[in-house]
Amino acid sequence: MALQRILVTGGAGFIGSSLCERLIEEGHTVLAYDSLFRGKKSNLASIEGNSRFHFMQGDVRDVDRLDDALEVLGGVDIVYHLAAVNGTKWFHEAAHSVIDVNINGTLRTLELAMSCEARYVLASSPEAFGEAKQQPIQNGNEMTFTDPSLHQRHSYGASKYLDEIACQHAARDGLDVRIVRPFNAYGPRLLGDEYGQVVAMFFSSVLNNTPLKMHNGGKQTRSFTWITDTVDGFYRAGLMDAALDGTPLTGGAFNIGSTEEVSIQSLQQAVFEAVAADSTWSQAMPEVQHEDGYHGDVSRRLPNCSEAEARLGWKPTTSLNQGLTMMWNSLR
Ligand SMILES: NC(=O)c1ccc[n+]([C@@H]2O[C@H](COP(=O)([O-])OP(=O)(O)OC[C@H]3O[C@@H](n4cnc5c(N)ncnc54)[C@H](O)[C@@H]3O)[C@@H](O)[C@H]2O)c1
Repeated sequence: MALQRILVTGGAGFIGSSLCERLIEEGHTVLAYDSLFRGKKSNLASIEGNSRFHFMQGDVRDVDRLDDALEVLGGVDIVYHLAAVNGTKWFHEAAHSVIDVNINGTLRTLELAMSCEARYVLASSPEAFGEAKQQPIQNGNEMTFTDPSLHQRHSYGASKYLDEIACQHAARDGLDVRIVRPFNAYGPRLLGDEYGQVVAMFFSSVLNNTPLKMHNGGKQTRSFTWITDTVDGFYRAGLMDAALDGTPLTGGAFNIGSTEEVSIQSLQQAVFEAVAADSTWSQAMPEVQHEDGYHGDVSRRLPNCSEAEARLGWKPTTSLNQGLTMMWNSLR
């Protein structure tokens, strides 16, 4: 595919900033658009001075500001929509904003892509499947949500589900839309504060020697995916004109995740092992504290990535142990 003008919403975030780096590396012109609610401009430091890179602070629900962004970019060929209120604690505490940004941000950026006839890539989530009973997670499985009076965890997943509906509707109307579902991406820029995500939170406990919180016994399993692999999935889903077999990619939904199923308890052990292998680190490991009552925490979240492999030629290349070692070295 030729060089493109690309808008990345949520471009200062964890995945967005790494995607911008990859897009710039490949020669495209990129505008990262972000409210900086959770992302940081410093995430984009390595490409800030590049003449093909632009940054604009703005809300993804603000259509006038989005128009300003298009003017700076000189039009748009691909919209990568990653802006969202991410971080599990927010799903409970700020359900209104989580829903508002997910749904209205997606509708506004879909309208923008339609008006410019741009390709559109949605960052959805395995949480769009809710408390998925069927594993591995794959297209066609049921998407299952619990009674909202119990907890509001699914403010995030249920609005990602509606985002997917809006995308499939736009695809039927002729927009070239692709959906990517990342499974627990991790890497050095992942936020490790109380609103952060599990791998970074565990490393943060080690670095600061604060108690490491283990929810619901740590038996639940996840699929942890090194950031470069995740970004490669986004890159292929957005930049390929057609699938490897020549079929159209529009309406395609791709799970992008490692198929190494890891319990949270094993993740904690693997984090401690990565740290223990560092002979220059002498601090004691933090205490592990068990906490229950963490609502909506599904027991398994394992992807079937055969569509991404067959149609995009995507496969993860980094094992959990390799990734954790790289992350630890980078955090130190
Ligand atoms: N990290 C993962 O493993 C993972 C898993 C599943 C889905 N996703 C999805 O991928 C996308 C990127 O996730 P991430 O891990 O990089 O999260 P992130 O929080 O680091 O990035 C999201 C970015 O969106 C920005 N943002 C929030 N509200 C905004 C608004 N109203 N207007 C403009 N920008 C706004 C934030 O400031 C942040 O920089 C999100 O849509 C997320 O839901 C991520």
